[in-house]
Amino acid sequence: MEQYIIKGGKPLSGEVTISGYKNAALGIIAAAVMTDETVIINNVPKVKDIELLLKAIEDIGAKVEYSKNSVKINGSNISSVSVDFDYIRKIRASYYLLGALLGKYNNAAVALPGGCNIGSRPIDQHIKGFEALGSEVKIEHGLIKANTDQLTGAHIYFDGSSVGATINTMLAACLAEGQTTLENAAKEPHVVDVANFLNSMGANIKGAGTDVIRIKGVSKLHGSEYSIIPDQIEAGTFMFAAAASKGDVLIKNVIPKHLEAFTAKLLEIGAEVEEFDDAIRVKASGRLGNTHVKTLVYPGFLTDMQPQMTTLLAVSKGTSIVTESIFENRFKYVDELSRMGASIKVESNTAIIDGVERLTGAAVSAPDLRAGAALVIAGLMAEGFTTVENVEYIERGYEFFEYKMQQLGADIVKVDSEDTKAIKKFKLKVG
Ligand code: EPZ
Repeated sequence: MEQYIIKGGKPLSGEVTISGYKNAALGIIAAAVMTDETVIINNVPKVKDIELLLKAIEDIGAKVEYSKNSVKINGSNISSVSVDFDYIRKIRASYYLLGALLGKYNNAAVALPGGCNIGSRPIDQHIKGFEALGSEVKIEHGLIKANTDQLTGAHIYFDGSSVGATINTMLAACLAEGQTTLENAAKEPHVVDVANFLNSMGANIKGAGTDVIRIKGVSKLHGSEYSIIPDQIEAGTFMFAAAASKGDVLIKNVIPKHLEAFTAKLLEIGAEVEEFDDAIRVKASGRLGNTHVKTLVYPGFLTDMQPQMTTLLAVSKGTSIVTESIFENRFKYVDELSRMGASIKVESNTAIIDGVERLTGAAVSAPDLRAGAALVIAGLMAEGFTTVENVEYIERGYEFFEYKMQQLGADIVKVDSEDTKAIKKFKLKVG
């Protein structure tokens, strides 16, 4: 098992370049199989979840060529519409293959998705979307099966704002007959990116980024070359890491508009944030202040940045309150932070944080992707050595995470937990 070892106390400084948005790439890769022509996708992050989705489309017959951060996909030889591999259950976004294959072949069966364990993650709104388009949907033997003779456009009002259900229904509706209107649609940047990609393939989607999306079905999609937007969560994570370590970091290749909720909170607690066209600089010197945060759908404060925010507030002055309103079980890392000396009480979906002066290094374990990144931030701030186990969670969504941290001056290394020699060597090196 691999783990990160971090020696805390060093301010991060320098420049870091943000990779393509994993959550947009997942929707876009699924969409790419909807044409028989070749698609080239650039700025694809090399992370575990993407590798697994690419493997899944390859296993059903798509041709995939991966070089650096570009992927060439050709879906003309897809021989099966059943995606039922053990590994695919691990990634939530496997469900995008349902919308993509249903749209293209009127038939799809995909293993029920897994993903980060951050609370119950129903798919009723996805099913609602497919059924409204005229598909029959059933769950059998661990698979969601959808099939129809003909998808037909419909007026769909989602009960809640869901990124996954919006993207999935949009995928299928692109190739349905007639017009589809999605109301109460998710407005997140990756919904817009998937829509832009589909439009570049000849789809007719209007309104992505607002809560009403209108899709005129087309008979087929064509090849395209497209570049994925920068990852707002990776950017936010480095913004908070810079502030937490009392550093000064220029975060390049970002869309500052997507980061506004994080920028606002950082300014509110006393960090300095400077925006450029496609970069953002975060600087902090003393101990930061307290605030209240509630996670909301975009453009509100993103749930995927909640653990990083709570971690930063754990050492800020005064009492802060963080309310999680999207997923009900996203405070599991708090026990790990407590082992490092944080004083946080969780009551239902609210964390009450009494800022402490310092954290101390400890052995902790990443319970999920974003919480794992938050524990690394905790390690950067803590006195002494922190060991973060279960780094495979972090690698699901952050490209070259420890390398990028090292480039900013962090004392962090990834080692096998059995490799006592490497562990000793790192500890000796950083003192
Ligand atoms: C996406 O998950 C992201 N994943 C998540 O990022 C992110 O936390 C989440 O959106 C919210 O922004 C990907 O894009 C692959 P939702 P998704 O459907 O689509 C409820 C990360 O760390 N809901 O927008 O699964 C649901 O329970 C991951 O990168 C239903 O009730 O989230 C939740 O409360 C973790 N019925 C809310 O909607 C449904 O059918 C929002 O979920 C679907 C969702």
